[in-house]
Amino acid sequence: MAKHGSPPCDGAASGASTHRRALIVGGAALAAGFAGSGETAAAAGADPSKLEVQPGDFLEIVRGPRKGERVRADALEIGAAPFECFPVDPATGTVRRGHRLNRMLVLRLDPSELSDATVANAADGALVFSAICTHKGCTIKSWMAEERNLRCHCHLSQFDARSAGDVRNGPAKHQLPMVPLALDAEGFVVAAGGFTSAPGGKTK
Ligand code: FES
Repeated sequence: MAKHGSPPCDGAASGASTHRRALIVGGAALAAGFAGSGETAAAAGADPSKLEVQPGDFLEIVRGPRKGERVRADALEIGAAPFECFPVDPATGTVRRGHRLNRMLVLRLDPSELSDATVANAADGALVFSAICTHKGCTIKSWMAEERNLRCHCHLSQFDARSAGDVRNGPAKHQLPMVPLALDAEGFVVAAGGFTSAPGGKTK
């Protein structure tokens, strides 16, 4: 069983304007509800770097040799360790690193492995999960390739990527939130909505 860190995602960064194009593939419509903190684009009068992920955001690798690349589903190896990413405002190109809960993990699995709930949030097998453990909020950094589980090193909670982040082991009691995805006209992964549930550590 391989244990990996969180390498970066893929896709050369290009002009932000291309991300205004219609989304063509995905498990959820771009206009899907925003299930996270309740922030909306209307609140974006403020610094866009501080907004939680918004529908239409693309994803950018933030660590490792592919840092700065934009995520494409077809550039992700199926079953490989996830890449650590942040959402990017398509209008300004601003990486939304100012919101502490925007840290995400992107990976790709064969759609035939996925539960219906997971497929609904996938785009060509690409999946995005919050990188913040729902137990006490540590950053998740380990990938158990055989089990397809994301593992938190703090208290060893495990979350099943094939089953919408369900808890498989450890003290965590809550699923790892996902971000529903779509692909834009050029095949880049974009958020089709906000987090499926509120990200972050939970007290209960
Ligand atoms: S903070 Fe992740 S298992 Fe406790």
